Amino acid sequence: MKERVVDSNLLDGDEEESLRPDRLSQYIGQKENKEMLDVYIKAALKRSESLDHVLLYGPPGLGKTTLAQIIANEMGVNIKITSGPAIEKTGDLAAILTSLSPGDVLFIDEMHRLPRVIEEVLYSAMEDYVIDIVIGKDGESRSIRLDLNPFTLVGATTRYGDLSAPLRDRFGVVLRLSYYNKEEIETIINRTSRVYQTDIEEDAARLLAGCCRGTPRVANRLFRRIRDFAQVLHDGKINRKITEHALLRLGVNLNGLDETDKRYLRGIVEKFNGGPVGIENIAASLSEEITTIEDVYEPFLIQEGYIKRTPRGRVATEKAYKELNKKYHKGLFADEDI
Ligand code: ADE
Repeated sequence: MKERVVDSNLLDGDEEESLRPDRLSQYIGQKENKEMLDVYIKAALKRSESLDHVLLYGPPGLGKTTLAQIIANEMGVNIKITSGPAIEKTGDLAAILTSLSPGDVLFIDEMHRLPRVIEEVLYSAMEDYVIDIVIGKDGESRSIRLDLNPFTLVGATTRYGDLSAPLRDRFGVVLRLSYYNKEEIETIINRTSRVYQTDIEEDAARLLAGCCRGTPRVANRLFRRIRDFAQVLHDGKINRKITEHALLRLGVNLNGLDETDKRYLRGIVEKFNGGPVGIENIAASLSEEITTIEDVYEPFLIQEGYIKRTPRGRVATEKAYKELNKKYHKGLFADEDI
């Protein structure tokens, strides 16, 4: 698959690290979530208890890892970071859990990919801070109980619906992150400009803010690419002209859609007559995985009203036709909604 500059799934490593705010007060957007977390953190600190387990869910790139780190900072504890698919054996989980100091944060990304056996060990860890693990083999095996220090599990997932009910129920705090509005993205862009000591003119920041799919990770990645163009083609400062030029070269249009989005929309409109079409057919026509399409491409296209999900499949809206400069044909099922 061709790498997408607007792919909010790609991690940016250290580059992204320096941009992460350390404190809740520096975190831009997600106002309601921030207010709730602020109360829960202050209350836990007042009672000298560990914070209740927190589940963060929503599309990739919206700051779930950042929030987990902020929670640890605000609680004054250490954080250990892992992900669902990285924990393969119960021994892996036991090793992590027994290494935690009182009150520490364990961040597990991609919770929905946690193997079922691991999930079951996690239940007692979350509820009673104990784990039962089986040691030895076959006839010789026995179960031992390990006591753990109290800890806070911060789980993250892009697929809330894929978590089992018993796992969901064990999180005392469940927060949904949603796409940022343009003003918030613009504020994040201006913050990034200060961190990188790279000036961006106001109209350039505003233009860029509209192209970032409401996603800070995309905003920061586009900022870095535009900064490259500004340094090579200009005096290092980012103005509107450089921004327009860079976006054009990167294949990102002024609504934040890139070639893959266009291919997706063109597929529904041209190959499937505007829909309704099932996800399997779309995936096959794009040679992409269904989960990538569902988690990465579609949430933004649905939120922005380019497509609708109906009981019969995906349908392209009038906005999609406009984006492709095509005459709108309202399909038979266009008004059905899930
Ligand atoms: N960088 C990435 N996400 C951010 C956010 N929500 N607030 C501030 N800076 C960020």
